[in-house]
Amino acid sequence: MKIEMKEEFIANKRIILTGDRPTGNLHLGHYVGSLKNRVELQNQGDYDEMYVFIADVQALTDNFNNPRKVRDNIKEVAIDYLSVGLDPAKVTIFVQSMIPELAELTVYYMNLVTLARLERNPTVKSEIKQKDFGNSIPVGFLNYPISQAADITAFQSTIIPVGDDQLPMIEQTREIVRSFNNIYGDTLVEPNALISDNKVCRRLPGTDGKAKMSKSLGNCIYLKDDSETVKKKVMSMYTDPNHIRVEDPGDTKNNAVFIYLEALATDEHFEKYLPLYKNLDELKAHYEKGGLGDVKVKGFLYDVIEDILTPIREKRKYYEENIDLVYDILKDGTKKAEKKASETLKEVKKAMLIDYFEE
Ligand code: TRP
Repeated sequence: MKIEMKEEFIANKRIILTGDRPTGNLHLGHYVGSLKNRVELQNQGDYDEMYVFIADVQALTDNFNNPRKVRDNIKEVAIDYLSVGLDPAKVTIFVQSMIPELAELTVYYMNLVTLARLERNPTVKSEIKQKDFGNSIPVGFLNYPISQAADITAFQSTIIPVGDDQLPMIEQTREIVRSFNNIYGDTLVEPNALISDNKVCRRLPGTDGKAKMSKSLGNCIYLKDDSETVKKKVMSMYTDPNHIRVEDPGDTKNNAVFIYLEALATDEHFEKYLPLYKNLDELKAHYEKGGLGDVKVKGFLYDVIEDILTPIREKRKYYEENIDLVYDILKDGTKKAEKKASETLKEVKKAMLIDYFEE
């Protein structure tokens, strides 16, 4: 599957950037929603620079009282990245907090955004509700979209591959860029979101059929889960509650097992594991007509997931045994990223007339 570059991307230098909060291991939802695309983009090579980073500063905005969790997950997310095939020779992988320029840019951008605008950000709004902050919203939390604008602009990024929930962040970044350029002169570049064309992949439901795979709901299949764990999780997945006997007609639309197959199964998987059917359409048709049991479909889904996770697990094992290598990759990437961020910061300070000692 080729990821198409839209017209507006091609006009600018193609600098791809995206990141994840280190609050837990990455799961299948991350894989189909984003990681797979990143590896595809990386291998297509159709870009000038590509950055993937671990957003620990952002993770701390709602985990500031749990620093150990954030620290431990830096390592985990880094290993997940390398295991799915991100290649440090092609992609700069770095740690957000190790780049102080990002914090400095955040401070300058804070002048360009109103409190009301931050409170209107739909993603932040729903997170605030969900976290029950009440009237005690930490300033740092409310501010994180501004910090995210710093992440994006510091690298002059033009292409941001993200999920739907991140669109308000990109929009807010674009506003900051416009406002900055208006006041201080053309300095920053407006980014574009790159959203997956495949609707099923944008948000994979949990194994319980709930809207989203989420660590707090305990409904995830992690990239690092072993075969037995995956089997247990798949076999207890939510399907169609009215599909009681094998002969009953079944629903494939609100059925998490079929949604996963839609996102993951290829025709080659059918040929390899379930040659009685040519493709998913044929399997669906049989299920909808009746006469196809859940156990059989789940068994196939298990095979498909194992086919994907086995090589990822092997690479994980290698990096776990060579953890120094992982930290060296992060250190090298961070050094490279800081160089770029400091160039942008220099331009920003010049535009803002605060480059006092430069002359
Ligand atoms: N907000 C993103 C998330 O929760 C992580 C993130 C931080 C990010 N900074 C970014 C994503 C910059 C893209 C670009 O997943």
